[in-house]
Amino acid sequence: MSANVETSSTVVDRFKDTTVGKAIFRSPRRVTPRDRAAGHWSNFFLHIYPVKVKRKAIEFRYSYYLGIISVVLFGSLIVSGIYLMFFYVPSPGQAYTNIQTLQTDVSLGQYIRNVHRWSAHLMVLAVAAHMAKMFYRGAYKAPREFNWIIGVILLVVTLLLSFTGYLLPWDQLAYWAVTVGSEMSAYVPFVGDRVQELLLGGPIVGSSTLLRFYVLHVAVLPSVLVMLLMIHLWRWRKDSMLDMAWEDGNE
Ligand code: HEM
Repeated sequence: MSANVETSSTVVDRFKDTTVGKAIFRSPRRVTPRDRAAGHWSNFFLHIYPVKVKRKAIEFRYSYYLGIISVVLFGSLIVSGIYLMFFYVPSPGQAYTNIQTLQTDVSLGQYIRNVHRWSAHLMVLAVAAHMAKMFYRGAYKAPREFNWIIGVILLVVTLLLSFTGYLLPWDQLAYWAVTVGSEMSAYVPFVGDRVQELLLGGPIVGSSTLLRFYVLHVAVLPSVLVMLLMIHLWRWRKDSMLDMAWEDGNE
C-alpha cells in the first residue's frame, strides 16, 4: 500500500479519534467484528443493507442495480431541477423566454437542462427495466406483493413527473402534448371531467395549468416519490435482505 494511502488513512483515523471525529463517526475504529458491524449499521449509506447479507443479494446480476440506478437518476433530477428553478418563473408571459435565456445566457444553463431532461428519460427507462427484472425474478410473489404494488405506484409517479415536466418549457410541443394528455384524462370513467378540470385548472391549457403542473412537478410528486421510496426500500430490506431462503428453492 503506497505511503499516500497509508498517511491519508492514518490522518482519517486520527481525526476519527478527536471529539469532533467521534461526534461525526459514531463508530471510530473497525478492529473487531463487532466494530465492523457497528460501523456498518451506523453508516448512513451502508445501513440500508443488514449487517449480514447473502453475497448473492448484492451481486450485479441479482438486480442489475436498476433500483439503485433509478435512485441515483432521481437524485440527479433533484439537483439539476433545483438549479433550473433559480431561472424559471411558471407564468405564460415568462416561462418560454426563461428557458431561452437558460439555454443561451445562463452559465451551464443548457448543460444542466440537458442533464435534467436526459436523467428524466433514463429514469423512466431504468424504472421500467427494474420492474421487468423484478418480474422475471418473481419478486411480485409473497411476501413481496406489497412492495410490488408500491413499485407500480412509483412507476406511475415517475411517469407523472415526466408528464408534468413536459409542459414547463411552454413551447408548442409542450402545449399540445398536455392538451392531448388532459383530453385523454377526460375519458377516465365517471371522474374524467373532474380529473381534466383538476389538471387544467380551467377549460383549456392556460396560466393556471402551468402553475399547477409546476407545483406538481417541483413539490407534490417528488415528495410523494420520496415517501413511497422510503417504504419501498424498507420493505426490500425486510422482505429480502433478511430472508433469502426462497431463492435457494428451500421455501
Ligand atoms: C422510482 C422508481 C423505483 C425506484 C427508485 C426503485 C428502487 C428500488 C431499489 C433500490 C430496490 C433494491 C434492489 C435493487 O437495487 O434493485 C428495489 C427493490 C424492489 N423493487 Fe423497486 N424501485 C422503483 C420502482 C419499482 C417498480 C415500478 C416495481 C414493480 C412494479 C418495483 C418492484 C420492486 C420489488 C418487488 C423490489 C424488492 C425485491 C426484493 O424484495 O428482493 N420497483 N427497488
